[in-house]
Amino acid sequence: MTHLVIAGVTGVAGLATYRAALADPAVSRITLLTRRVLPDWIAASASASSSSSSSPSSPSSPPPASPSAPPALPETEVVIHPDFGTWPPALAARLAAADALVWAVGVPVWSAPRAAYEALMVACPLAAARAIRDARGEGEGEGEGERRRRLFRFVYLSGLNADPTGRSMQYSAQVKGRVERELAEICGSTAGAAGMRAAAVRPGYFFPPKEHAEARARQRGVLARALDTVQTPLLSAVAPGIYTPLEVLARFVVELGKGRWPERTVFPNVEMRALMEDGAAA
Ligand SMILES: NC(=O)c1ccc[n+]([C@@H]2O[C@H](COP(=O)([O-])OP(=O)(O)OC[C@H]3O[C@@H](n4cnc5c(N)ncnc54)[C@H](OP(=O)(O)O)[C@@H]3O)[C@@H](O)[C@H]2O)c1
Repeated sequence: MTHLVIAGVTGVAGLATYRAALADPAVSRITLLTRRVLPDWIAASASASSSSSSSPSSPSSPPPASPSAPPALPETEVVIHPDFGTWPPALAARLAAADALVWAVGVPVWSAPRAAYEALMVACPLAAARAIRDARGEGEGEGEGERRRRLFRFVYLSGLNADPTGRSMQYSAQVKGRVERELAEICGSTAGAAGMRAAAVRPGYFFPPKEHAEARARQRGVLARALDTVQTPLLSAVAPGIYTPLEVLARFVVELGKGRWPERTVFPNVEMRALMEDGAAA
């Protein structure tokens, strides 16, 4: 059974991942890592498409079970951590006890000066990975040996054109590529199967679907929603290589969190979609 940590649950990819995790019977526990108190629409939207009619459980309270109850939803806990740039050892140890962290945090490249953009997009995921690596190396309590024998997956939501060589002319591709490269180094510095593995997922364009109207309205503005009424149908029809169905992305990252494809570290959009078509939901 898998314990998944999701950073960025208020965002498009993060919320879809939460929905997919709730619907996956192999996920027993979910930790939502957020910088602020979660608004009510998150739980409402997440439970709207989960296989059960129950709401996600409140922090640290697994849903009650009874013979006639629907399948139990994974336990959900919320960890509020205002500064994703610093990871105190106690928090890092908590995260390190999970099986995977899905890093779905981000802002548009145009929304911040470069220094602030890189502080969030580069320094934060790398600081989180280092802190988890250090925590996994230091645990000595009961069960720590067993925990360290399990692979920890750092699942990073990268970008379609990420370029780890740094040669791309596109700034955001350089940034994403740098994070991919340094995450691989951090995770690669842990010992073999007992350590961590980075998985860089490179999706194309995705957008909150119309079936989740409230989340769509909360997560994207009027103009973006208007543009998307053209963009999603157009890209999915004529340029599927640069488009990613949100549900496919979400199920894919949950599969990564469960340990699928452990030998691979980079998942370009087209390959991700092919892997899912080949039966990833098995
Ligand atoms: N959308 C696409 O088409 C697309 C395509 C390819 C790759 N990607 C990449 O995929 C990732 C997720 O994208 P998305 O579209 O799902 O993002 P999104 O909808 O804009 O959500 C971003 C998430 O990041 C969190 N966040 C922003 N600033 C933060 C901070 N300073 N500290 C902590 N959390 C912060 C937000 O939380 P708050 O609610 O607290 O602000 C939110 O949960 C990004 O890295 C993006 O570059 C996106």
